[in-house]
Amino acid sequence: MRRVVVTGLGAVTPLAAGIRQTWAKLIDSQSGIVSTTSRGHAFDKLPSRVGGLVPQGSRDDGRWQAKDWLPASEERQMALFAQYAIASAQEALDDADWHPTREEDLEATGVTIGSGIGNLDEAYNTSIAFHEGGYRKVSPLFIPRLLINLAAGHVSIRHGFKGPNHAATTACTTGLHAIGDASRMIAFGDADVMVAGGAESCIHPLAIAGFARARSLATDWNDDPAQSSRPFDKDRAGFVIGEGAGVIVLEELEHAKTRGAHIYAEVRGYGLSSDAHHMTQPRADGNGPYLAMRQALRHAQIEPCNVDYVNAHATSTPLGDAAENHAIKRMLLGDNGKSDASQINVSSTKGAVGHLLGAAGAVEAIFTILAIEHNLMPPTLNLNNPGTPLSDFNCNYVAKVSQEHVIDVALTNSFGFGGTNASLCFAKYG
Ligand SMILES: *[C@@H]1O[C@H](CO)[C@@H](O)[C@H](O)[C@H]1NC(C)=O
Ligand SMILES: *[C@@H]1O[C@H](CO)[C@@H](O)[C@H](O)[C@H]1NC(C)=O
Ligand SMILES: *[C@@H]1O[C@H](CO)[C@@H](O)[C@H](O)[C@H]1NC(C)=O
Repeated sequence: MRRVVVTGLGAVTPLAAGIRQTWAKLIDSQSGIVSTTSRGHAFDKLPSRVGGLVPQGSRDDGRWQAKDWLPASEERQMALFAQYAIASAQEALDDADWHPTREEDLEATGVTIGSGIGNLDEAYNTSIAFHEGGYRKVSPLFIPRLLINLAAGHVSIRHGFKGPNHAATTACTTGLHAIGDASRMIAFGDADVMVAGGAESCIHPLAIAGFARARSLATDWNDDPAQSSRPFDKDRAGFVIGEGAGVIVLEELEHAKTRGAHIYAEVRGYGLSSDAHHMTQPRADGNGPYLAMRQALRHAQIEPCNVDYVNAHATSTPLGDAAENHAIKRMLLGDNGKSDASQINVSSTKGAVGHLLGAAGAVEAIFTILAIEHNLMPPTLNLNNPGTPLSDFNCNYVAKVSQEHVIDVALTNSFGFGGTNASLCFAKYG
């Protein structure tokens, strides 16, 4: 089996545009959650008025403006989620120093970048325009700006990559699936290098209304946004919507070594499963996540006792966090596992950035890779009192401040509506 390693990272998140600035703020316990009411009056009337918004401004300050990353002509053609993907892919490719020009290298490089929801803004505006003004009001760019796979399409076009071109869309598991699937494409020989990740930008009143109707969102901290996302805390009461993108460069091991690339970590295992239970709710026992983690560790041939850190999916919902907590303990305790729950190191970075939906799995994979790189576990913000009951929530959740600890092996989980669960296992290389 060909081995697959990570050689480049890029991200746009509610903490910053750029992965270095994002990571620096994350480990410094800063929050990217703010009030959404700055985005227009339509947000004022919604029950949840908090979100992880990408900060606006110049790239030099770690902020986002499209013109720093692409010409105005391309900006017009592209949905915002695709722009975030373009920027993150650029950063990841620069980081990996992979800018091929030879035909055989271009043919051996592919892209898989997905999105959960895509361009809701465009669909909404065009629906209204069409209803009111008819055929002539529909832009010729409507379809290209709407399609989810155009993020991957634009990245390939910009860089001339002629290998696989793919886009997963599996709700909140999208980013993780994209990376896992891309690693399989390299292992199988479809490509030597893959640009993989997820992107999302749907902080739109209609999306918030929909998630609020599904009773998924935090609504109690509209006046104190930084407190609203609190994974594993006893007062957690729903997720906080976020936006951004995460993209990584994956590479076949010998290919990376031959060109002297920096290797962040190796993709060791990838597990996929389904709850087979309910559209939006988890099974209380967390059986789906358990199966996904078990499969990822089997694939990695790593014993549960050797898992040093878990980046949880935990979105700050009462049911979801409890089910995942249950699954993590079932997976990591006991035979070939840890003897005590306090030895399980798990954090949810959603406390700082919120839930980036289709981008979450990719951004969190990057946080997991950087945890391995720096031997530093990013914190779970707002974790004042784990639980309840406390007897269930007795792992080390890296509450509020990051912790130093040698991390050789880590898992990252992502789960999505529809009951789809997946887990990736990364390890130090060498
Ligand atoms: C949709 O319409 C709103 C309100 O006019 C505008 O602010 C927004 O930029 C539009 N979005 C798109 C994708 O055209
Ligand atoms: C969890 O992290 C702490 C440091 O915060 C460390 O002392 C402990 O050994 C870790 N547990 C495992 C099993 O890695
Ligand atoms: C597994 O994925 C499905 C989809 O969200 C989801 O309903 C469930 O939350 C996941 N399981 C758990 C325990 O999180």
